[in-house]
Amino acid sequence: MGTDEVAITASAPAKCILFGEHAVVYGEPAVAVALEQRLSVRLTPAKMWSVDGSSLNPRRHPHIHHLVHEIWDADSEPAPLSIHVSGDIPRASGLGSSAALSVAMGAALHASKHLTNPSDSIEEFCRMAHHAEAKAQSGRASPMDTSTSALGGIVVLSDRKEQGCDWKFTSELETPEGKRTWEIHTLKPTENEIYLVLGNTGVHAPTSHQVALVAAALEANPTRINEIHAIGSIARRGLLALQDENYEAVGHAMSENHLILRNLGVSSNELEQLISAALPTSLGAKLTGAGGGGCMVALTRNPKATSEAIELAGGRTLISRLGNQGLSIDSNNGTPFWG
Ligand code: MEV
Repeated sequence: MGTDEVAITASAPAKCILFGEHAVVYGEPAVAVALEQRLSVRLTPAKMWSVDGSSLNPRRHPHIHHLVHEIWDADSEPAPLSIHVSGDIPRASGLGSSAALSVAMGAALHASKHLTNPSDSIEEFCRMAHHAEAKAQSGRASPMDTSTSALGGIVVLSDRKEQGCDWKFTSELETPEGKRTWEIHTLKPTENEIYLVLGNTGVHAPTSHQVALVAAALEANPTRINEIHAIGSIARRGLLALQDENYEAVGHAMSENHLILRNLGVSSNELEQLISAALPTSLGAKLTGAGGGGCMVALTRNPKATSEAIELAGGRTLISRLGNQGLSIDSNNGTPFWG
């Protein structure tokens, strides 16, 4: 049997946070949507471990290295794999490329070991991928990016079970500031003609650095936790507006959320320029993800006009509906992978 016939391929989507980034790390509510852009991983048995032709290196591939060690414990040495990563999610741009990698990779590695249907284990993939993210972010990471990439659609995180949402599971993490717990839900995607336009500044800002910046600001001045709580209140209001399909109010809450993020010090001149350019044709706009660079997002009924305005201001744009398919195992011919 040729190696091609025993390949396992899994893919997972990018995400965009509508409300609550940074504050969600401290347990506040947040809402994110899965985007149309996806990342795919393909595993085939090989003589040595490699990622896109270079040998697997814990420093260059921390998420993959962490997942391999989570899935295979010390007594069961895995047979080596050749890993190929592809897709159209821009890297280090706030759209969750590392979460999509962790989710797709966790599912593919798990499938290669256990040969089970991923829907049986989605909670387990979320947990593994969240821990891989936390490891790369000095212990501070919410399960926002990973659960959105795994579950797809619209995902709501909160410190309590939210009415009107479909509760999925509870996620926990021991962080440097203590144990955090998040209730993870999904919300039915809308059928309305409403779009997100993402504007990429092209500036790479590592999430770990941005998360550490907020942690340092809070440590220097603990009263700034009020800004974190204020983001949580806006997220809750934004969630209600989404449930009512009141997109004017959703857009307004997004713009308000941005003002607090800017005050927290996680915006940048490039982000501000793209946001200003998007506002006249959109219902609201904000940075999305960790900030410092990366992407902004605008909610709009006129994606063409908003996209053109952002491009004129120097951004590269992507257009997406609100909520797309989550994790999928795209090809696995059912034969035992390790034969
Ligand atoms: C990054 O996409 C979102 C942050 O809130 C970090 C996290 O939730 O782990 C900045």
